[in-house]
Amino acid sequence: MSLYNKVLVLHCIPHYVIIFKEGVLSMKTRNYLNRCGRMSVIILCVLFNQLNAKVETMVEKNLYGKLPDGREVYQFTLKNASGATVKLINYGAIVTSLCVPNRNGVIEDVVLGYDSLQGYINDQSYFGAIVGRYGNRINKGTFVLDGKEYHLTINDGENHLHGGKFGFFKALWDAKVVNDSAGPSVAMTYVSPDGEEGYPGNVTITVTYTLTNDNALKIVYEGKTDKPTLLNPTHHSYFNLSGSLTTSILDHKLTIDADSITEIDNRLIPTGRLLDVTNTPFDFRTFHTIGERINDNHLQLQYGKGYDHNWALNSFNGKVRKVVEVYEEKSGRVLEVLTDQPGIQFYSGNFLDGSQKGKGVVYQHRTAFCLEPQCFPDSPNHPNFPS
Ligand code: GLA
Repeated sequence: MSLYNKVLVLHCIPHYVIIFKEGVLSMKTRNYLNRCGRMSVIILCVLFNQLNAKVETMVEKNLYGKLPDGREVYQFTLKNASGATVKLINYGAIVTSLCVPNRNGVIEDVVLGYDSLQGYINDQSYFGAIVGRYGNRINKGTFVLDGKEYHLTINDGENHLHGGKFGFFKALWDAKVVNDSAGPSVAMTYVSPDGEEGYPGNVTITVTYTLTNDNALKIVYEGKTDKPTLLNPTHHSYFNLSGSLTTSILDHKLTIDADSITEIDNRLIPTGRLLDVTNTPFDFRTFHTIGERINDNHLQLQYGKGYDHNWALNSFNGKVRKVVEVYEEKSGRVLEVLTDQPGIQFYSGNFLDGSQKGKGVVYQHRTAFCLEPQCFPDSPNHPNFPS
């Protein structure tokens, strides 16, 4: 296949990554988790090529390592009927590997990761993790809910990022294998105590990962609380679809169904304004490679050191819809993202600098990207932002 067009991708190369978020509760606003509220969110679903040879589906559980306090961390390997696998650990509910076929059926890992638990304990880049309670940034870690001002952990300059210092991504989750007729499935639950990282209310969050037999990895979130609070978790895998984690992602082709981004200041905090993407390097309404305009002279790109922005997705109405497609031509892999959320953070791996390694390689600048479906960053401080 030499030519690339959307029809070809959709119909001839059935390798997909789909990210879902779905079924968010609403009492006052949807990203406010209210007393006894429940939230059910699907965030990640991966569909890849089905191989012809059918294999048994299975979940294998192994001891992965021990935390400094002696608690055991387990790894779950989910293998579906097509032979694709995902490995998860119950520390941070982290995806440590995602092995899926290229167009020739060769199965390769498409996410960055470390070689041992210690790597994930030291990690400050959220490799593969569930982040939250609030994914993305909250200005100065401050918000007001029901007339009360809350102050969250400051961990990104003067701001709060991805739930704080430890958040969900440094927590040990309870994990159990669950039945899902769609494919092998593991549910992870974490009880975040009232006041953790400054957030009000006890929150019980369950994240269910299913590797469906038609090669979809589905991540469903469910949350419960006993006090009004915020909840906006997301998934933070670093993808490189090429099958080689040393190659740049700048030639991956991308579409994002969004007419605007949330404009940021130099702290990556939204100004509250939406910026029309027309005639800017942020216009991915048709396919462009990630690298094509990443070095353009645009203030927003300077602030982000590349792409590190929230796209205000079109057609937000609480229903799951496809919002992103990424295509890597050499491997033929396609990643699709579906979500019911209003926004998606597209981060082009700008902070990767060769200081992290794993899987036998060093992770260099822009050798992976993240797509994080979520509410707009700092929504609690912008009444005009949807939730
Ligand atoms: C998110 C943020 C980035 C960066 C990465 C982790 O995607 O938006 O600014 O913090 O996580 O390095």
